[in-house]
Amino acid sequence: MKPLVFLTRPLFPASEALLRRRFLLTARRAEARGALVQLTDRVDADFFRSMPRLEVVSQCAVGVDNIDLAAARRRGITVMNTPGVLTEAAADHTLALILAVARRLLEGDRACRRGRFPEWSLGYMLGADLHRSVLGIVGPGRIGAAVARRARGFGMTLLCAGRTPRSPLPPGCRRASLRELLRRSDIVTLHLPASRRTRHLLGSRELALMKPGAILVNTSRGALIDTAALVAALRAGRIRGAGLDVFESEPRVPAGLRRLPNVVLTPHIASATTRTREAMAMTAVRNLIDYFMGRSAPERIVTAPGRRRARA
Ligand code: GLV
Repeated sequence: MKPLVFLTRPLFPASEALLRRRFLLTARRAEARGALVQLTDRVDADFFRSMPRLEVVSQCAVGVDNIDLAAARRRGITVMNTPGVLTEAAADHTLALILAVARRLLEGDRACRRGRFPEWSLGYMLGADLHRSVLGIVGPGRIGAAVARRARGFGMTLLCAGRTPRSPLPPGCRRASLRELLRRSDIVTLHLPASRRTRHLLGSRELALMKPGAILVNTSRGALIDTAALVAALRAGRIRGAGLDVFESEPRVPAGLRRLPNVVLTPHIASATTRTREAMAMTAVRNLIDYFMGRSAPERIVTAPGRRRARA
């Protein structure tokens, strides 16, 4: 008999077809042994209580901050995610935000859409160079390293902070403390998971350390930045601008940010390319198949009974 699985939201046709071939989908949570969830699902103690037969949760994303991992551990439930397949797309989007803010793409676009922009002049709409600037990567894990690879191509100097001191850095990166990184970087990009430890990692004190005219980019999780402090820093012109794909209370986008011309805002789409999102869905299904066949890939196990793994 095929294992019973609860699917919280639709996938794409190919991944859902594979899921249906290998499992029996059930709408009755109480009987499911597996759950395939997405980052908008709140997977907490109540969720687990409603699923007494649950053994495995497969998250169709790399971040798992919507999942109460301690509660999963207490219940002996395995949690799996989809690292790797979205690394390159997320890094591309990070560079897109860096370029958009540094070269004022949206401001320029808005000026053109008015039908006519002020006559060309030497000092009109000046942006910031990427080449010969310092990029500070906070959290040089998989995605941070992919950003580093791209940034080297743009001729940037790289500083990295936030990994355990022994873990190797991406080529071309120099290790720095967060404090030093904030002080020396022209552009700061965040690539850490949301956790109690990283909540409001950048508040008013940290933002005040940033170079005047620096740019902040966040494609990881909104909770890493104290939004009110960021709005204040941007409004005061303390920093040049920000590129944000993630927000503290999604899907709400704070009015303070929406009113600022020097921010580029995207709706949590860093991994949203057709190929990448299909690969994420497929990986989430494969995680369930692997679990029930007893051959799970260790790098896709977030937590499992009797083991813990450090997360990038
Ligand atoms: C997207 O934000 C993800 O965590 O995969």
